[in-house]
Amino acid sequence: MTGRHIKVFATGGTIAGKAGSATSRDYIPGQIGVDELLGEAARLGLQATLVGTQFASIGSEDIGPALWHILHDAISGAMADDACQGIIITHGTDTAEETAFLLDQTLPTAKPVILVGAMRPADAVGSDGMRNFANAVGVAGDEQAAGRGVLLVMSDHIFAARDVRKARTEGVDAFRGFPRGPVGHVTPASLEWFGPAWRMGEAARFAFYPDMPRVSILYAYAGMPGDDVRDAVLSGAKGLVLAGLGQGNAPAAVREALAQAAASGVPVVRASRVDQGLVDREPDDDENGFVAARALGPAKSRILLQLLLANGITDPIRQQEAFDRR
Ligand code: SIN
Repeated sequence: MTGRHIKVFATGGTIAGKAGSATSRDYIPGQIGVDELLGEAARLGLQATLVGTQFASIGSEDIGPALWHILHDAISGAMADDACQGIIITHGTDTAEETAFLLDQTLPTAKPVILVGAMRPADAVGSDGMRNFANAVGVAGDEQAAGRGVLLVMSDHIFAARDVRKARTEGVDAFRGFPRGPVGHVTPASLEWFGPAWRMGEAARFAFYPDMPRVSILYAYAGMPGDDVRDAVLSGAKGLVLAGLGQGNAPAAVREALAQAAASGVPVVRASRVDQGLVDREPDDDENGFVAARALGPAKSRILLQLLLANGITDPIRQQEAFDRR
């Protein structure tokens, strides 16, 4: 292969999964190594030189700070390597949005960093893995992909890390962008951006510390007691994210317990358990010391709060600024 030099960091997931049968429902993620994946890609005639490293072979439910640390170091190295023009991470889809967002906030935007996965294992009929991978190579090799933060490529869509959410448990079209939809469209034969890059030349927004502080997500429900909040704090949470009702609401007892937590120095972010829609600031957020998650869902709100705390940003006004920023 010739063309742009792209590093491929493999972690496992369904894109590397095998069922042993084209029609089986069950499969094991992380079965295909990066060499086999790149061997398959070589047969597609892609205009890129791909260099692979296998960092893990796991389902993404087991990804967390330890692997993020390894990936962060490797991507930082690739960013400093003049020969490398883009980076692809193969990843399970279940937590792809979390890894994408963590890297998005802790890396400069100088080179394209693309996450890619699949909803169907490699040997399934109608598998989406190789097409998604070919599309990711096209995006990683495109100069205009830089300056947009970390991107996720799935089902011919290009999503920004901050917007993307897994919105379906099955089907190849499982991801959505919110509040922006996809930022571009890609096929193995074409690539179109829907607007200019909006983060050109940006440095990393936060330092990445692998020892991330514990932040708990509290899923709100009718009849939820304040004890759910107090139990999380007693068990060591250094921050709380409410996956609230509607626009980040919760029963009175829970709001009271959250206000007590915030007053005692455990920051509280109000997000929503609803997939789409903003959670804006409310008049009593000032009084309660709460932060509104704005466009971020609970999982990414949790990562942002961890980064803020790890970087010593404890003032709710500064925390709110980080949640407001695109
Ligand atoms: C995983 O997230 O590793 C399993 C599901 C998938 O990759 O689609």
